[in-house]
Amino acid sequence: MLLEVRDLHVEFRTRDGVAKAVNGVNYSVDEGETLAVLGESGSGKSVTAQAVMGILDVPPGRIAGGEILFQGRDLLRMKEDERRRVRGARMAMIFQDALSALNPVLTVGAQLGEMFEVHRGMSRKDSRARAVELMDRVRIPAARQRAGDYPHQFSGGMRQRIMIAMALALEPSLIIADEPTTALDVTVQAQVMDLLAELQRELNMGLILITHDLGVVADVADKIAVMYAGRIVEAAPVHELYRAPAHPYTRGLLDSIPRLDQMGQELYAIKGLPPNLTAIPPGCAFNPRCPMAQAICRTDVPPLYPVTGTPARRTSACHFWKECLGG
Ligand SMILES: Nc1ncnc2c1ncn2[C@@H]1O[C@H](COP(=O)(O)OP(=O)(O)O)[C@@H](O)[C@H]1O
Ligand code: SF4
Ligand SMILES: [Mg+2]
Repeated sequence: MLLEVRDLHVEFRTRDGVAKAVNGVNYSVDEGETLAVLGESGSGKSVTAQAVMGILDVPPGRIAGGEILFQGRDLLRMKEDERRRVRGARMAMIFQDALSALNPVLTVGAQLGEMFEVHRGMSRKDSRARAVELMDRVRIPAARQRAGDYPHQFSGGMRQRIMIAMALALEPSLIIADEPTTALDVTVQAQVMDLLAELQRELNMGLILITHDLGVVADVADKIAVMYAGRIVEAAPVHELYRAPAHPYTRGLLDSIPRLDQMGQELYAIKGLPPNLTAIPPGCAFNPRCPMAQAICRTDVPPLYPVTGTPARRTSACHFWKECLGG
């Protein structure tokens, strides 16, 4: 397995107390595989990714427990210089906002070239040539000329391609893309997502695709992990999850996607808001919003029940997953 996150806990010290942002997350991704991590804003998707990348804000953040195995070795137990090498060369991250992730005062050719100069010890001239190749690869038109432009001279979609190029430069084994298309308009979103998926297949990388939009992952992900209040509440191969959700929260997310065959009908929205992470409700964290909640939901935390396969390919943290799947 390329990456395995095991029972990860992350807390933040805040004025209101300890915010439990990640509460025992388990997920894994293999070479050539795409895992989509889905959930409303504030569910702990980015914090989990930051812990994997080693870019968590510490303090106020703190890893309170768990393991992050990368190619079999626990990143949390590595020395800082070794960790830095892994982070630089073998894993890379793509952020939502390219404009703040890229250096505004360097041309994109210089920024891309710097990767090869610093990490590969290549000459400036060779590095620039590689930079243009990369820009070609992410299909930036007139790459040679545009290598001399600054980030703000590109459109949102083109900038996102440049960030993909930066992430791919050193041919990492793992890419984490955190809402990579959220800031783009819908047609550009699809183009950037297709490009990312195509490069991921070509290079046989593991991809963790973080999104709050179930609509964008159907065609590109192999499996999905749905997060709520810092936990995985359902994990499943993508087509099984779309066919029938085994958790009421996933059902709510699915029902809130606009569908062509239901144009004009009012869109379903999950009632209420995610919990305050300094005071997560006892029992199932989703119980105050759940249309299927029973008494047990307010007292007993649901474990991740196996839904299909041994070992489980699919799991759901709902006491009533069978009823949810059936209805
Ligand atoms: N730098 C920070 N300082 C304090 N709390 C934070 C910080 N980053 C994240 N959190 C807490 O962690 C929660 C989960 O954040 P995040 O992982 O960014 O959610 P998302 O699922 O939207 O990516 C936030 O709602 C917040 O309570
Ligand atoms: S455990 Fe209960 S409250 Fe939680 S999702 Fe299942 S039915 Fe709803
Ligand atoms: Mg986020």
